[in-house]
Amino acid sequence: MSMEKIVSLCKRRGFVFQSSEIYGGFRAVYDYGPLGIALKNNISQLWWRAMTQLHENIVGLDSGILMHPKIWEASGHVGAFNDPLVDCKQCKARYRADELFDGNPEDGKWDEIQCPKCGTTGNLTEPRQFNLMFKTHIGPVEEEANTAYLRPETAQGIYVNYLLTQNAMRLKVPFGIAQIGKAFRNEIVARNFIFRTREFEQMEMQYFVKPGTDDQSMADWKAERLDFYNQLGVDAKKLRFHEHGEGELAHYAKEAWDIEFEFPFGWSEIEGIHNRTDFDLRRHQEFSGKKMEIFDQPNNERFLPYIIETSAGLNRMMLAVLSDAYWEDDENNRVVMKLHPRISPVTAVVCPLLKKDGLPEIGRNVMDILKPHFKVIYDQQGSIGKRYYRQDEAGTPYGITIDHQSVEDQTVTLRHRDSQQQDRIAIDQLVKAIHDSMENYS
Ligand code: GAP
Repeated sequence: MSMEKIVSLCKRRGFVFQSSEIYGGFRAVYDYGPLGIALKNNISQLWWRAMTQLHENIVGLDSGILMHPKIWEASGHVGAFNDPLVDCKQCKARYRADELFDGNPEDGKWDEIQCPKCGTTGNLTEPRQFNLMFKTHIGPVEEEANTAYLRPETAQGIYVNYLLTQNAMRLKVPFGIAQIGKAFRNEIVARNFIFRTREFEQMEMQYFVKPGTDDQSMADWKAERLDFYNQLGVDAKKLRFHEHGEGELAHYAKEAWDIEFEFPFGWSEIEGIHNRTDFDLRRHQEFSGKKMEIFDQPNNERFLPYIIETSAGLNRMMLAVLSDAYWEDDENNRVVMKLHPRISPVTAVVCPLLKKDGLPEIGRNVMDILKPHFKVIYDQQGSIGKRYYRQDEAGTPYGITIDHQSVEDQTVTLRHRDSQQQDRIAIDQLVKAIHDSMENYS
């Protein structure tokens, strides 16, 4: 299955659009249409619930995208958040050095390497360091003193607020702070649709633990995070862990694991789980001059907690879900998005067989009954088969048909998207039947 098919379905059905399309598009930024935002919200709500509702000791936060620029000096992003870049002098193509050269790009013999675009050799420049943070200026004067950055990760907003949060909520170690929000990176090579973009959303949770308990906590979070993908309905065979080796570890990490998914373009990271030690808090303590230690009352001691971070990309998670769900049902000549009913943008479509004989009235009544419980839509256009197939492609798991028998006995048919099986159900049992089916979906 190819990425082209997913990209085309996403556009056709209103999941994802290229940004600024009428102006020829704006590279590496995407807009989310009605079904896309619904799916994205459902995924992020599931994550938020998994973190802040199912864990009594994890609380939420929403910090600013713009923050004090010193935060990014302390975090190391001003100095170390760089990609090595090379340009082709012949055709002006630009690459990340590590993508062209297997190994340390600093040691690369650039004049021997061929430009993948124009095919010439000897025209690549030496690698230059390129900072991935977007810069802007606060106030009307564009001078260095007014520089601010768009945050490249949401994590730092959590670190600088962690003591305020801990005090306000009277939290004791171990505890966590979760945040969902936009992050920005001036990616040199943005590619693979919504996989790598310049503006994206992160779902990050920072777990503050006592030093010495960090290895166990890391192991626990690895297991819990992998399990989350079952709840999303993602095929377990398409998931695996990848441990960062020496050369791959970020500047802040002692140990790091990626959860990788088998995308149509190969295995790639969706989420990172990192042991960040006390690196960030120590640095903020140093740069701000404020104590960042926590006070442990029972043991009457102060210490800098270690941090286990789980950091997922919402857009990547959505792409994983979409590519996992895509199914061509050749037997019935239809495309089905087998999204888990828990996250499908629309739960059910209500279809009166005819636009007369009292069927639309029953359809409207069914809509009113279902609306408080599920996202439902009403469709009376075209043949019933066409209506169902339209919804199969949008990932809608249930179809409800009102026919002449409905007028007589107040029953309807409930159609299941994947199997196309239909059950006759009393209208007053529909909410329960849909709930039960969602619960048992596999
Ligand atoms: N706070 C740690 C951190 O930001 P990261 O591995 O750089 O770690 C975490 O990013 C996650 O954010 C990635 O696993 C990925 O899902 C998502 N992400 C990072 N850069 C992205 C980009 N350019 N486009 C889309 N998602 C991105």
